[in-house]
Amino acid sequence: MRVLVTGGAGFIGSHTVDALVARGHDVRILDSLEQPVHLRGRPDYLNPAAEFVLGDVTDRATLRAALHGVDGVFHLAAYQDYLPDFSKFFRVNAVGTALLYELVVADALPIQKIVVASSQAVCGEGRHRTPGGRVVYPGLRPEAQLAAGRFEIASPDGDGETVWEPSDESVVNPQNQYALSKHSQEQIAIHLGRRYGIPSVAMRYSIVQGPRQSFFNAYSGACRVFSLALHFGRDPVIYEDGQQVRDFVNIHDVVDANLRVFEDARADYEVFNVGGGRAWTVNEFAVIVGRAFGSEIAPKPSGLYRFGDTRHICSDVSKLRDLGWEPKRSPADSVAEYAEWLRAQDDIEDILAHADETMKSLNVLRRVDA
Ligand SMILES: NC(=O)c1ccc[n+]([C@@H]2O[C@H](COP(=O)([O-])OP(=O)(O)OC[C@H]3O[C@@H](n4cnc5c(N)ncnc54)[C@H](O)[C@@H]3O)[C@@H](O)[C@H]2O)c1
Repeated sequence: MRVLVTGGAGFIGSHTVDALVARGHDVRILDSLEQPVHLRGRPDYLNPAAEFVLGDVTDRATLRAALHGVDGVFHLAAYQDYLPDFSKFFRVNAVGTALLYELVVADALPIQKIVVASSQAVCGEGRHRTPGGRVVYPGLRPEAQLAAGRFEIASPDGDGETVWEPSDESVVNPQNQYALSKHSQEQIAIHLGRRYGIPSVAMRYSIVQGPRQSFFNAYSGACRVFSLALHFGRDPVIYEDGQQVRDFVNIHDVVDANLRVFEDARADYEVFNVGGGRAWTVNEFAVIVGRAFGSEIAPKPSGLYRFGDTRHICSDVSKLRDLGWEPKRSPADSVAEYAEWLRAQDDIEDILAHADETMKSLNVLRRVDA
């Protein structure tokens, strides 16, 4: 098949491109090499067997040309950040996706499948249960509570704290500009896809880990931040009390999931969670990263928390398992591969300086009142 991968120069995109090429597909990448993701320009890992088109998915003429002669699309290009430029999230993530469907319909393109990248962020705080047994979908925790160093979610019934449960695909509770735009993108793909007979799938990735994840992307999370700290012999900075739960999925498992839904018609018009299949606390994850860098660490809370952070989130991946997919790699596997990649970088001091600067400029870090 001839496959277009938007965002194909990025982390998930480039690995997906490699797998498609290995399976004998003709691949075209459309990527605008966004800053700061590609601070150093075109990455050297781009697959030479794939055609590379520099351009923006929100530009009609560019996207139309990129779609020419294509049978399938992975739509992975996205704006991901914590910045308050709300409209840009919708312009790139939602309007860009609507434009893709608009062109497929307008030009009656014979596209057999579109896979779009959604996010676990769509679930927000996910599903919780109150001590009284009621299922709830909590909103943001109040600032005053976090400043007081109380991190668990208070039951709305006043009977104590809620307990998290795995979130399946029915959970929709987006709480920030990125999550809202990703939910919109998901809805566009599934509903316009079905309406116009364009087989479409939305993938709600959990936290994806592995090599090629940009060092300069503020959104790229604990693996990058902890790895950089440990590489420089510093303690990883643990927000809140480190007892918050996440699920981490390896990039190669994500690629396997992408190919599976691409090739399986049972996936059409469905949303799938793509996660690691189990929950880890941030403290447990810090220990895993420590070991990859040769140190046994005892994580300590930093006294900091991040404005707007999710307390606990873990995806239920049963639906994708039912298609025969299974997460096969552990966070330790992901971190080992990431650490190897990090060590192979030159001018790594710049990376750390950039990471520190970005965090400060975003002004999302807050200190728990003494
Ligand atoms: N990495 C994760 O943990 C994760 C989790 C959930 C969802 N996702 C989603 O998966 C997709 C891929 O994420 P990633 O981690 O590979 O990110 P990435 O930043 O590494 O890759 C995204 C690529 O898209 C390109 N891009 C951005 N805006 C563009 C535009 N307007 N036109 C053309 N190209 C553009 C960037 O240059 C980049 O190469 C995104 O849609 C993201 O929202 C990722």
